[in-house]
Amino acid sequence: MFARLPTALLFLLSTASASTLSLHIPRDSNSKASADYTSDSLFKSTILNVTNTYRKQHNATSLKWNDTLADFAKDWSEKCNFEHSGGPNGENLSSGYPNASQSIIAWGHERVDYDFKKGEFTHETGHFSQLVWKATKTVGCGRTECDGQDKGKAPGWFVVCEYYPPGNVIGSFIENVQAQVPKDEQPEGPSDPDVPEQEPDAKECPLGGDCSSGVRIGVSSLAVAVWVTVWWL
Ligand SMILES: *[C@@H]1O[C@H](CO)[C@@H](O)[C@H](O)[C@H]1NC(C)=O
Ligand SMILES: *[C@@H]1O[C@H](CO)[C@@H](O)[C@H](O)[C@H]1NC(C)=O
Ligand SMILES: *[C@@H]1O[C@H](CO)[C@@H](O)[C@H](O)[C@H]1NC(C)=O
Ligand SMILES: *[C@@H]1O[C@H](CO)[C@@H](O)[C@H](O)[C@H]1NC(C)=O
Ligand SMILES: *[C@@H]1O[C@H](CO)[C@@H](O)[C@H](O)[C@H]1NC(C)=O
Repeated sequence: MFARLPTALLFLLSTASASTLSLHIPRDSNSKASADYTSDSLFKSTILNVTNTYRKQHNATSLKWNDTLADFAKDWSEKCNFEHSGGPNGENLSSGYPNASQSIIAWGHERVDYDFKKGEFTHETGHFSQLVWKATKTVGCGRTECDGQDKGKAPGWFVVCEYYPPGNVIGSFIENVQAQVPKDEQPEGPSDPDVPEQEPDAKECPLGGDCSSGVRIGVSSLAVAVWVTVWWL
């Protein structure tokens, strides 16, 4: 992994882990892990609900759950290794978000930075474009509470989602990633109220959470969570 990381990022990463370590914030025994992480059925329905709400808004049909992908994702999440698995599917990773819903919303929220006219892959919007990619039909995700404090380990809850067929195919962005369509022209799919219809200039993360990608240090009640999405890996 480190061979692929620019030195500056490596430095950032090590700084982040080092400062997390040096703080030694104890686990708050009153704070409980979110139910959408701990319950299998709630995890699955939350992922599908949030994912398919974004897809519907962007005129993509709903994804179905794929157990093969979910098993793969679960296995990879258990390694707590904060990097791509190198597997054959589309793959999005996140770590350190307070609940499963917010983990997916952080990816979806990248749409505020996506240029629908250009239709290109960018590191800032790659989770979003995979999320709503029209040709993708199935998804399977896994999660593990890693609470990794060491360099390269996933902080907090590590969420891995696999997509099949994979998205982000260079040259196919225009036809696969569509701008939001009016409500009455959207395909079937759930409407999770936590995922608002996009305002053209909405920059605020839904739920009042923090969707920023990159390395962040935010104090949560669990521990000092380093909020990271892995666009730079
Ligand atoms: C939604 O997508 C379908 C298939 O990709 C397309 O035929 C249809 O025109 C799109 N609807 C809108 C409102 O763009
Ligand atoms: C589920 O994903 C696997 C790839 O891991 C793929 O081979 C299989 O066709 C998918 N199942 C469905 C129903 O698409
Ligand atoms: C999300 O998954 C896609 C498909 O694997 C991948 O190409 C992309 O790099 C991931 N997104 C980001 C922002 O890393
Ligand atoms: C999606 O979740 C919301 C709550 O956030 C709930 O109101 C809605 O019924 C769910 N929809 C589906 C299809 O599960
Ligand atoms: C998930 O976390 C966000 C941000 O802390 C919070 O606003 C939201 O209510 C939580 N959602 C669920 C389903 O727990």
